[in-house]
Amino acid sequence: MDNKKRRVCPVERAGGLDTRLRALVQNPYTITAPFISPGATVLDYGCGPGFFTVPMAHLVGESGRVLAADLQQGMLDMVRYKIQGTLLDGRVSFHLVQGDGAGIDGPVDFVLLFYMVHEIEDKAAFFRRIVSLLTPRGCALMVEPPFHVSRKEFRETCALAEASGLAAKTGPRMLLSKSAVLTIKQT
Ligand SMILES: C[S@@+](CC[C@H](N)C(=O)[O-])C[C@H]1O[C@@H](n2cnc3c(N)ncnc32)[C@H](O)[C@@H]1O
Repeated sequence: MDNKKRRVCPVERAGGLDTRLRALVQNPYTITAPFISPGATVLDYGCGPGFFTVPMAHLVGESGRVLAADLQQGMLDMVRYKIQGTLLDGRVSFHLVQGDGAGIDGPVDFVLLFYMVHEIEDKAAFFRRIVSLLTPRGCALMVEPPFHVSRKEFRETCALAEASGLAAKTGPRMLLSKSAVLTIKQT
């Protein structure tokens, strides 16, 4: 795969996504807690080094499940290393996915799409895949970085999500981010 052409964040730069400074600015518990109930099945799609995966595994509790999915094995290895031998070990499953999302089985109650949608080539197909993965009352939180995604591009991405069967509402305010909450459009 040509990561450069597809603008996929390389494994060598993953450390920058998992810092104490980031945790101060983007607290992963505060951001995901409103969307996660104990016992839920949730998907961290494009999990990278697991900055959100670990907090999500705490939030779903003993009876919940977290699917950590990424295009790059190196990212999944970093998450696995973090939780190995901890209480969270049995709660997280790892999914090396292809660009089209094959390799993940739903349904899931919540999908986190943090700083990853701008890396997707075929966004319409991707959003259709999200529709197929969500439970009818489930939702996805899409968060994009301002330095890669302009306001106009974000609006276009939300429009694509809408055209693919999702309803997009403005998401929670977050520093260094644009966000939207996606739910399955009711017909
Ligand atoms: C900028 S990183 C963000 C990681 C993490 N969500 C975070 O906020 O710390 C984007 C991640 O999305 C993954 N990614 C890109 N396209 C993907 C796809 N089609 N399917 C799954 N993962 C993908 C990349 O490999 C990378 O780990």
